[in-house]
Amino acid sequence: MKEWYDAIQEAQSVERLEEIRISVFGKKGVLAAEFVKMKKAPNEEKAKIAKDLNMHKSNLMNEFTARKITLQTQELQEAMKAEAIDVSLFSTSSSSGALHPVMETMDRIVEYFSSMNFAVKTGQIVEDDFNNFEALNLPKYHPARDMQDTFYFKDEMLLRTHTSPVQIRTMMSTKPPIRMIAPGAVFRRDYDLTHTPMFHQVEGLLVDEEGKVSFANLKYILEDFLKYMFGDVEVRFRPSFFPFTEPSAEVDISCVFCSGKGCRVCSKTGWLEVLGCGIVDPNVFAAVKYENVSGYAFGLGVERFAMLIHQIGDLRSLFEGDIKLLEQFQ
Ligand code: DAH
Repeated sequence: MKEWYDAIQEAQSVERLEEIRISVFGKKGVLAAEFVKMKKAPNEEKAKIAKDLNMHKSNLMNEFTARKITLQTQELQEAMKAEAIDVSLFSTSSSSGALHPVMETMDRIVEYFSSMNFAVKTGQIVEDDFNNFEALNLPKYHPARDMQDTFYFKDEMLLRTHTSPVQIRTMMSTKPPIRMIAPGAVFRRDYDLTHTPMFHQVEGLLVDEEGKVSFANLKYILEDFLKYMFGDVEVRFRPSFFPFTEPSAEVDISCVFCSGKGCRVCSKTGWLEVLGCGIVDPNVFAAVKYENVSGYAFGLGVERFAMLIHQIGDLRSLFEGDIKLLEQFQ
């Protein structure tokens, strides 16, 4: 029997151990043979031989089980070592990531206004009726609310339709003077070539003592800003309407596709509308209980800027996460 104890100890693989198991414990194995032999032994010896054999059977089984666990653990560790992945290994197939064109454009806008000492405010995406509409001189049932198709929750809560409510939140929580921008996501029920239900805006607000802020100030900074963003373009202000500003204007730049000659993108006008602005309406100041102040405000769509800068035709392609498109912005 001793040789089988040795064989178990010397087995170097689970496979070899299995061979031993069959040779020792199998139907035609050593133990079975010994038990057959025992039957021929003289009766008075049988009991002792059987006791001996049973002792060996149980001891060999214990040795076998212990050895099997050791070998299995060893083999598993070797396999793990062999299949290990070197995460520090340099891969030539990977490419580096890049900012999404919308975020890159947003960063540039923020960079410009930060350099002009505007603080960056964020506000909140789930807004209430007061901040998104009421305080911005858009009372209930005012027809101008139709300009913005709103996603409503219950209890007068909604997804903000523009970043203008951040003006209100900032004025309600701080004293003038104020110089702020508010970049962020906004939501409207709209979906076509130039509209997605979620997009990004940057709002701007400047408030100072009465008589200190003029349309000329607004015009100066927006012209400077648009040249920073689009390079050498013409800028023009067109009278317009927003409930929260009076007077209001929309701002156009000369078409970046045809340099103002007139093309399909600018509908042959030579101009592209890029933002809205104006002098803060007295009703807005009244809503936040500001007195003896004057200010200007503006708002713009970041996706529109990104599309014009990168000449992207379909707004929706910015939100599809298509690697082929995004790769081009590395
Ligand atoms: N909130 C406007 C919109 O979503 C954009 C806007 C226009 C903001 C004029 C302003 C502004 O602050 O003065 O269309």
